[in-house]
Amino acid sequence: MSEFAGKTLFVSGGTSGINLAVAQHFAGCGARVFVISRDPGRVAAAVQSLRDLGAEADGMPADVRQYDQVAAAVTRCAELFGQIDILVSGAAGNFLAKAQNISSNGFRAVMEIDVLGTHHVMHAAFSHLRKPGASILNISAPQGSVAMVGQAHVCAAKSGIDMMTRALALEWGPLGIRVNSVSPGPIEGTEGQKRLVPNPAAVEERVNAIPLKRMGTLADVAELCAFLASDRANYITGAVIPVDGGTTLNPTPTRMGQFLED
Ligand code: COA
Ligand code: NAP
Repeated sequence: MSEFAGKTLFVSGGTSGINLAVAQHFAGCGARVFVISRDPGRVAAAVQSLRDLGAEADGMPADVRQYDQVAAAVTRCAELFGQIDILVSGAAGNFLAKAQNISSNGFRAVMEIDVLGTHHVMHAAFSHLRKPGASILNISAPQGSVAMVGQAHVCAAKSGIDMMTRALALEWGPLGIRVNSVSPGPIEGTEGQKRLVPNPAAVEERVNAIPLKRMGTLADVAELCAFLASDRANYITGAVIPVDGGTTLNPTPTRMGQFLED
């Protein structure tokens, strides 16, 4: 497939899990891909996996909380590939804890990675994205739309991301840049799920609460991202689109909260 031939994708947090799967999907569709995250070993492995798919790919370590590091990575990507057409902001932090057990530093860590980090990558990439046809995909979560026990920090962060999506769709739409949020439900085999669904009983209850009765796959999320970044979605902006099997309709967080200390 060559739907994204000639396009360059920049992915924050693109070295593992969902974001890497998205990067690999676009690589398989002909895009050049640049990934960043904190761990140099993860960056190297992710870049190799993208090159193994036949893609032009590179990356560098960068912490999305540090604007200078993000800006340096964006500059490097543009120097190497000449342009940036699609931005995926996927770096995030999560852990399961009730609000009274989250320190100021813990709350700040998640807000800074998710919200500030998303602002940083969108801001740093803006001059390259400022053209008709550019697309931004912010990776959100059901917590951006519905409350969940043990997730006050993530609810705050992901709802903040979703409002930035809407605000920048408003500001940047006239420039031709579309901005959307992709909101995956529980995706099997990911770090996020390991953290949120801590044991087999919780997994069973989690799946039972999903209307489609299964966790999502990496491919489910990658397919939505590819659609939203494509010309087929060229009238969609400012949307928060779930790919969650209906999770957001029935968020009752199963027994997640019961595994937590008060
Ligand atoms: N419950 C309560 N607080 C927790 C916690 C938990 N399970 N895990 C971490 N924290 C707190 C720490 O105690 C610390 O606060 P303190 O200094 O007051 O003790 C604070 O969070 C920051 O932890 P630290 O490990 O120093 O931060 P970091 O910036 O290195 O890492 C995290 C950020 C905590 C979000 C870390 O889990 C991470 O890097 N996550 C990335 C991967 C991920 O979350 N993937 C899933 C995405 S959905
Ligand atoms: P993951 O594998 O832990 O991916 C997170 C990525 O972000 C990693 O590559 C990590 O690499 C990077 N990262 C973390 N902090 C960073 C920072 N400060 N600066 C730069 N990069 C950073 O998690 P995942 O479960 O696949 O989740 C990916 C995305 O999907 C997240 O936005 C998450 O909120 C969302 N999501 C996941 C699920 C799910 O079921 N898993 C559901 C809904 C939404 P380093 O450690 O090298 O920095």
